[in-house]
Amino acid sequence: MRACMLALMLGISASAVAAEVTGDANAGATKVAVCSACHGESGRTPAAPIYPSLAGQSSAYLESALHAYRDGQRQGGMSAMMSPQAASLSDQDIGDIAAYYSQQGPCVEPKQRAQPASKAQGQPE
Ligand code: HEC
Repeated sequence: MRACMLALMLGISASAVAAEVTGDANAGATKVAVCSACHGESGRTPAAPIYPSLAGQSSAYLESALHAYRDGQRQGGMSAMMSPQAASLSDQDIGDIAAYYSQQGPCVEPKQRAQPASKAQGQPE
């Protein structure tokens, strides 16, 4: 937990110097409350293993994905769950949210993320 807090603080201080980011991560932080229900706090602890972790992904990729959901270009899989979430986002919202999530440290190693119980018991890979 302490490591998570440190990573969060480092992420915030890094945002102050990341001039190439068009979105505003601080503004993004105020726009992600609804997203946390599925993607977890800071986008790093998804509510179920089938939801993607957003923390630490590049802002360019997150922006691209959100535009594609909003504009109906990303379909199939579980996009029917995600597209309505992006429907009302403006371009500025998307930029701000992408900046915010890109600056959150993933913190949790992929193997430690929530997994189905059968796989969580140290089974050899
Ligand atoms: C009801 C649950 C739910 C909510 C709420 C939700 N999402 Fe999602 N999100 C999903 C699911 C499920 C997927 C995977 C969809 C697919 O298969 O394409 C996803 C995918 C994504 C992706 C693509 C990730 C990748 O690695 O490709 C992004 C970015 C994303 N969501 C951002 C958001 C943002 C921003 C919000 C809030 C505005 C939000 N989501 C709210 C369920 C949700």
